[in-house]
Amino acid sequence: MRIDIISCVPQLLTSPFEHSILQRGRAAGVIDVVVHNLRDYSESKQKQTDDYAFGGGAGMVMMIEPIDRCISHLKSQRSYDAVIYTSPDGKLFDQPMANQLSLFKNIIILCGHYKGVDERVRENLITHEISIGDYVLSGGELAAAVISDAILRLVPGVMNDETSALTDSFQDGLIAPPVFTRPAEFKGYKVPEVLLSGHQAKIEEWRMEQSLDRTKTRRPDLYRSLTENQILTK
Ligand code: ADE
Repeated sequence: MRIDIISCVPQLLTSPFEHSILQRGRAAGVIDVVVHNLRDYSESKQKQTDDYAFGGGAGMVMMIEPIDRCISHLKSQRSYDAVIYTSPDGKLFDQPMANQLSLFKNIIILCGHYKGVDERVRENLITHEISIGDYVLSGGELAAAVISDAILRLVPGVMNDETSALTDSFQDGLIAPPVFTRPAEFKGYKVPEVLLSGHQAKIEEWRMEQSLDRTKTRRPDLYRSLTENQILTK
């Protein structure tokens, strides 16, 4: 899978993809992330990418021309399954959305900025508008990094143990159970006995109980939707 990110501040996106799991995935050639500086697609002398809003008002608006030029250039190289715009008024990003997007081959993410983007971009060039939460960031770059990370780690070959993505919190609609590692006792704090028992069926039963309890207390909204949809019966 390849993700092309279009940004006015590409410096913000150098580090997130150069370490750990995503770096290994890139080295293995199963994923790639390419960041494009929107200014390179501006034809003005000052490399302008934003302008005053028609009708007045505070804040600059991202212009359609450089964005269209950049997206057209990318589309002339390969076909894309989605062109995402990051915005606080987009659809709230969640695990099912990450799962769906991880099945795509090529994705463009346009990072929003300033007071927004010329509405004609949203109407004509964008296929998905995504928000990562009900708060406002100073730009869409961190949102693009979050979305890319959540998608790319699901691509087969990126994680060492492919089953680990399946046991993530939210993958089955439940919060993941607690985990422990050595030592079995630290300053009197003990690891639950069952995890040391070697009895795999009991361990799985305990983990499921913990997941259900945690989901019920920490995310009653999730728990309610699982029972309402009869995925859970209790
Ligand atoms: N840009 C600014 N805030 C954002 C958010 N919450 N999600 C996505 N993009 C954004």
